[in-house]
Amino acid sequence: MIWYPYEQMKLMKAPYKIINAEGVYLYTPETKLIDSVSSWWSVIHGYHNPAITQAIKDQADKFSHVMLGGLTHDPVEKLAAKLKEWLPGDLDYSFFSDSGSVAVEVALKMALQFYVNQGDLNRTKILSLTHAYHGDTFKTMEAGDDPDYHFILEVYGKNENVIHIPTEIPALEKAFEKYHSKLNCFIVEPLLQGAGGMRMYDISFLERARELCDKYGVLLIFDEVATGFGRTGYRFVADVVLPDIIVLGKALTGGHIGHAVTVANHKVYNGFYSDNPEKALMHGPTFMGNALACSAALASIKLFEEGDYLTKIAHIESIAKRELSDLSDERIKEIRIMGGCACIEVYDPSTLDGYQEFAYKRGVFARPFLSYLYSMVPYIISDDELIQIYDVMKSWFRR
Ligand SMILES: Cc1ncc(COP(=O)(O)O)c(C=O)c1O
Repeated sequence: MIWYPYEQMKLMKAPYKIINAEGVYLYTPETKLIDSVSSWWSVIHGYHNPAITQAIKDQADKFSHVMLGGLTHDPVEKLAAKLKEWLPGDLDYSFFSDSGSVAVEVALKMALQFYVNQGDLNRTKILSLTHAYHGDTFKTMEAGDDPDYHFILEVYGKNENVIHIPTEIPALEKAFEKYHSKLNCFIVEPLLQGAGGMRMYDISFLERARELCDKYGVLLIFDEVATGFGRTGYRFVADVVLPDIIVLGKALTGGHIGHAVTVANHKVYNGFYSDNPEKALMHGPTFMGNALACSAALASIKLFEEGDYLTKIAHIESIAKRELSDLSDERIKEIRIMGGCACIEVYDPSTLDGYQEFAYKRGVFARPFLSYLYSMVPYIISDDELIQIYDVMKSWFRR
């Protein structure tokens, strides 16, 4: 029996059974659906991409996996080299793991130990954003601010080590003024807070954060698990404001197989590089650097590089803006659009009850949550398919 994610199993309706997936389409036994959420935002090149599938097959013909403890192999070495060349600044040291949550855990552990390794035991606090989402493991739940987790974390009492602030410069400045010598890092989903409600904010906030982190020696972590690979319209937000650590997942493999990476700059890496074995980073997921996943990631990055994706994403954004410009309804609080993400926020979550079935009957798979109806489409989507997604959204409000 499967225990499904984020579901009250007693109340859950039967999931749609997928028997095939190709391009932007999911196939059920009776119909085909445009996937408007790219399997939790990961399948940027569409399903069953021939180049990625071939890369996985070619590697599987050699070997699927060997551990990185004491061993190495071509796909992981090539991927680390590619990321070093491809990512901005001196983000050069790749630590692989099997999911975005674990990769964020690694980033948080790196930030804490970076100071502990220097004998600074006071920097125990993490600065984070309200409405943040960084994953479902314990430390990522704490760094995040997802109301779904509050009641279980409250069992531990108040967590003194995480400070949440809104995406407003005065709040940021105040937090640094008060806590700067206690902070090891400031972790953010840059520009676009995904699971917290597709909240969008200005780059000036991140520019100021970079200045304050530099001034007070605090590490800046960009969790680009969701925003990376073009979702905001930038390739990475890190291309515009450079963090000390970047976390990538989801689209890293084009969504074809689970994998993630925490990439550190020279300063962070050098904080661990020592003759003292105790200063090593004590982490090592069994499937880190999985050979199939690294091969998929290399193929996915090649597609991204060769496919003029930023132009495609700008086009997707312009169509979303055009198509949703004539949508207004008293139940709608705000419509937000950035890069490959569009979100309609409603006042009352019950406004969206039944939307998934409504969209299913009109050939679209959607998964609204709370008050948010959104699209995070594969970048290979055609104009007509995109328009179909927004037509379904509009007809929901106009019925
Ligand atoms: C910003 C962000 N960080 C981390 C994660 C966790 O990634 P995973 O589901 O691969 O553990 C997610 C997942 O949605 C995410 O959006």
